[in-house]
Amino acid sequence: MPLNKKDILDIASLSVEEIQLILDTADSMREISERPIKKVPVLRGKTVVLFFYEPSTRTRLSFDLAAKRLSADSLAISGDMSSLVKGETLLDTARNIEAMRPDVVVLRHAFSGAPHFLAARLKASVINAGDGTHAHPSQALLDMLTVRQHRGSLAGLKIAIVGDIAHSRVARSNCEGFSKMGAQVVLAGPPTMMPKGIENLGARVTADIEAAVADADVIMMLRIQKERQKRFMISTEREYARHFGLNSQRVSLAKKDVLIMHPGPLNRGVEIAPEVADGPHSIILDQVTNGLAVRMALLYLVLGGGRNADTD
Ligand code: CP
Repeated sequence: MPLNKKDILDIASLSVEEIQLILDTADSMREISERPIKKVPVLRGKTVVLFFYEPSTRTRLSFDLAAKRLSADSLAISGDMSSLVKGETLLDTARNIEAMRPDVVVLRHAFSGAPHFLAARLKASVINAGDGTHAHPSQALLDMLTVRQHRGSLAGLKIAIVGDIAHSRVARSNCEGFSKMGAQVVLAGPPTMMPKGIENLGARVTADIEAAVADADVIMMLRIQKERQKRFMISTEREYARHFGLNSQRVSLAKKDVLIMHPGPLNRGVEIAPEVADGPHSIILDQVTNGLAVRMALLYLVLGGGRNADTD
């Protein structure tokens, strides 16, 4: 079954069936990275442009590697190395990129809505690699894939997402995705970092981390996004760690087989204690491995591939 979507802009615009198709396709992509020769020819002749206006390690590298594993040509440009610094607008830059006939543009941008703006104006597919505080759909898809891999299904799980919810596109996309797939999401964090109306995404909201993690099947910790805060919203990081950091004692309140997640980058000793980040419940590096599989699936599907990818 094809995806029939030109662009991947957010989780809100994906149906449950479309999410399942992406996750099933990612499942079949994962095995390619275990082969001695980690490359298949399914996107030979296709071109993927990675356009990153904000810093990234995981998302940028995995989209680049995903394109290469599928034999597409990929090229990357960052905001500070582009003609943006000479005053060129995002639209003019995108039009110039399109004049070179790419098939997919992967965009990370500080402005919420920037990928939607380009998608409405470009023939190439646009994949949102994170826009402002709005959405990070490929992150939510890789997180859903990782939980599904460990638990078989998302339905009925209690998932606590803890931290700077106000500035987190990951929290928004995950809240939409996990809720859509039948999980119960609890958002926890300081009241100064909890946006009004966030419960409309289908989550319960609390400022009590102990209540949030009690009996949780999954705990996802988020870093404080200082780069998006107009003023620092907590007194000290030490104070934050004491009230909202995940330590072993708080992990013990959750289910015995709780999964600990974090989208990265980690601030060890602030939102997550090192022994928890590296402990037996942590699936943080599985998230990274699955990020590659999900991004391979997204590139494959927006370019017309079907479910059970023919990847021989
Ligand atoms: N999770 C995430 O988006 O990480 P990067 O900013 O390193 O891409």
